[in-house]
Amino acid sequence: MAAVEQSATKTFGILTAGGDCPGLNAAIRGVCRAAHDRYNMTAVGIANGYRGLIDEDWRILRPVDFMGILTRGGTILGASREKPFKARPKEYSSDIEEDKVELIKENYRKLNLDCLVVLGGNGTNTTGYLLAKEGLNVLGLPKTIDNDIIGTDRTFGFHSALSIATEAIDRLHSTAQSHNRVMIIELMGHKAGWLALYAGIAGGGDVILIPEIPYDIKAIGRHLEKRTQSGRGFSIVVVAEGAMSIEEAAMDKKERKKYREQTVVPSIGYRIAGEIEAETGLETRATVLGYVQRGGIPSASDRVLATSLGTAAAKLLAKGEYGRMVALKGESISSVDLRVPAEGVKTVPQDHYMIDTAISVGTCMGV
Ligand code: F6P
Repeated sequence: MAAVEQSATKTFGILTAGGDCPGLNAAIRGVCRAAHDRYNMTAVGIANGYRGLIDEDWRILRPVDFMGILTRGGTILGASREKPFKARPKEYSSDIEEDKVELIKENYRKLNLDCLVVLGGNGTNTTGYLLAKEGLNVLGLPKTIDNDIIGTDRTFGFHSALSIATEAIDRLHSTAQSHNRVMIIELMGHKAGWLALYAGIAGGGDVILIPEIPYDIKAIGRHLEKRTQSGRGFSIVVVAEGAMSIEEAAMDKKERKKYREQTVVPSIGYRIAGEIEAETGLETRATVLGYVQRGGIPSASDRVLATSLGTAAAKLLAKGEYGRMVALKGESISSVDLRVPAEGVKTVPQDHYMIDTAISVGTCMGV
């Protein structure tokens, strides 16, 4: 690696970890431009999330590296789901090679970093928190299409995925109508149903199923049959990938996994399509939107949020306020202790106004 400029006031590492999403490059640009232009700092780009700090894969980022990336999808740094604390030896091991956390700490020192800036979801910010507890200076940024990070009102990536998912629902509407079919669309969201709930409302979904509200197939069947009887022969069912039935919700995690392994369908969307056909006899088709939700250019709203959060992180870096995650709170950008995103997943509260909004326009929430 080339030597770090002597004139630089601070040197920081920057990485993107977990699943990618639109807005990551806009955030990298926000952090690096402000850090470079305003505070004369040097950025070291770590490749492939935390893995780059284990494999010693990094490079100094020059202004040319973070030029022209505002609108680009994915991440110029690469990403991985490396979780260094997961495989950590329980006992102290004399073989340091085995301990990824020790390798990360060693490389942090080798690079002479003043701080490590991590862009990611729950897992990434939790790892950042654990590294901070190990003595590293860490700053976090909240990204994910799932919008499920505690401590921020919104994550960047969510708004872009919402637009993509809504357009997909709009496009399914025409075929649903032409063929008088029930169309299922499965969206991402393993533990939290924010994306399915928002896209379902934006796209006028007739049924919305989210992990937070276990569904009753009989209630869904009744709702769809009522629609048919009232002359609306088609329906749109928006399903989060983590949706589950009332029966599954009563199982523990292990039982549920076993139960799901027994079903031959590739995912929940297909399973619900089969259940609806069996329950109602209505012709049903499933579409799984998949990684399309995470790809392509960020929406204008995500660009603004990612840039604001990125520049706010650079400011904290300049002030030496570490151990924090930058966050959107109402109309302002602030920050929270990194302990906050490590507390768990921000799920949709049962009394969230959007659930009431959906029910008020006649949408069935699965019960
Ligand atoms: O965390 C974002 C997310 O898109 C989830 O909604 C989804 O469950 C998961 O990533 C898929 O991850 P992977 O890229 O590992 O398949």
